[in-house]
Amino acid sequence: MKYTITALALVGAVFAGACPKPSPSPTPSPTPEGPSYFGVISARSASPIHLRALTARGGKFYLGGPGPSSYCPVAQVGAACPPGNETVLAGGYKTLSLGVIVPGGQQVYVAPDGALSYTGAHSAYIPPGSIVDGFSREAPAAGAQFGVLNFDTGFVACPAAAADQGYQVFGQVDGATFGDGCLGFNALAVAGDKPGAWQY
Ligand SMILES: *[C@@H]1O[C@H](CO)[C@@H](O)[C@H](O)[C@H]1NC(C)=O
Repeated sequence: MKYTITALALVGAVFAGACPKPSPSPTPSPTPEGPSYFGVISARSASPIHLRALTARGGKFYLGGPGPSSYCPVAQVGAACPPGNETVLAGGYKTLSLGVIVPGGQQVYVAPDGALSYTGAHSAYIPPGSIVDGFSREAPAAGAQFGVLNFDTGFVACPAAAADQGYQVFGQVDGATFGDGCLGFNALAVAGDKPGAWQY
């Protein structure tokens, strides 16, 4: 998985657009400047979910299976459409978002059943009881390539209901039970520098 270097000047301009912001934004914590794009790769050695890209599909996240669901209004945006074939995240300092251009963005949250989920484009709807502020990030240790994305109670991946969809990703929320096939994993963060899609 690679995150190449090209500036997308459009981003700033388009972010000024009209959709409702999905999250209360001003959080006075020591966060780096800018949206801080990154991708995530899972680490659980000697398992089927070792070194899989975290993939946004249809409002949920998966390890393995097909690539991300993504969309760009090509007629309006043209060549500035990101490829949309890799899943890019942004933030991760308390709250977490997808690395998208669509006005209003797309917020990531852990649903009451634990499913790691994201809001639809042009929608701020998050189910009641979801957790939106349980994320944190660690910078790479000196000399290391990867940082870490954390969720307060940890991440776990379970075989997806549909066989060809890989493993579905959950936060280990209180009260949820995760079956025998589920595996905890570390979420390695790979620094990026631009959004991955118009929207996922
Ligand atoms: C995504 O598409 C870009 C541009 O076509 C390509 O360079 C890159 O290798 C692709 N990435 C993946 C994971 O397929």
